[in-house]
Amino acid sequence: MRSWGVSLSGTGSATIYETPLLLLHGFPLDSSMWDGQLGFFKDKYPLLCPDLPGFGASRKGAPETIEGFAEDIKAFLDENKLDKVILAGFSMGGYVALAFYELFPGLVEKLALIDTRAGGDSAESKAGRNRAVESLEAEGTGFFAETMPRLLLSEEGMKNERLLNDVCGMISRQKPASIKNALIAMRDRKERGFLLEKINVPVLFVCGEKDVLTPPSEMEKMAETVKGGSFRLIKGAGHLSNMEEPEEFSSALLDFLSG
Ligand code: MLT
Repeated sequence: MRSWGVSLSGTGSATIYETPLLLLHGFPLDSSMWDGQLGFFKDKYPLLCPDLPGFGASRKGAPETIEGFAEDIKAFLDENKLDKVILAGFSMGGYVALAFYELFPGLVEKLALIDTRAGGDSAESKAGRNRAVESLEAEGTGFFAETMPRLLLSEEGMKNERLLNDVCGMISRQKPASIKNALIAMRDRKERGFLLEKINVPVLFVCGEKDVLTPPSEMEKMAETVKGGSFRLIKGAGHLSNMEEPEEFSSALLDFLSG
């Protein structure tokens, strides 16, 4: 768990003056994907970046459903006596954020959906998840560290050695059992397009200009469906927009928080 400016049930010393921003990481990553945001938001806004169960420093097993991940976030809020958050989710974290909103709308003050989608997996995507499980079982985590970066990063991002190493390192650290369960959870996740029209809190949609997994055109359409929806394009970035363009990304979030 990474955090700044939030006192969690007796640990830490800072006081919360505002509703904390809780950032949910993507697949197969962990809370270190938000390190750039922790630096940016320090002294500006309280931030919580938990590891989803099974990932990063979490000692729990990963659930096999997106709702299971959302329930874990609810337990985290309960443990820490937090009754309101601004919830932001990147990609798989966005699936979890939407499920959380559906289950516990009263706990969400604002929502940010980052390089993600509301729909479920197509038949083709589900088949791809099954193939990924087979590759994981045959080749281990290395398969993901090798194949995923070029989907997560833009061509420019792939040339940035430090960034590429960070992403590969993060993927390599994750447990195969957690990767498998998360693949199953994403494959079988509920289609939540219907929820967009029902959301009655402000929602920011953020997308990297060169995101090939959840393209900007798709996210812009989602933003138009939501009553209080707004859209920010992160120029030049791929799917991992917050890691490729941390300043521009963080400024978009800060504008949303103060807007
Ligand atoms: C992610 O970045 O979390 C994943 O690419 C999401 C997915 O595979 O659907």
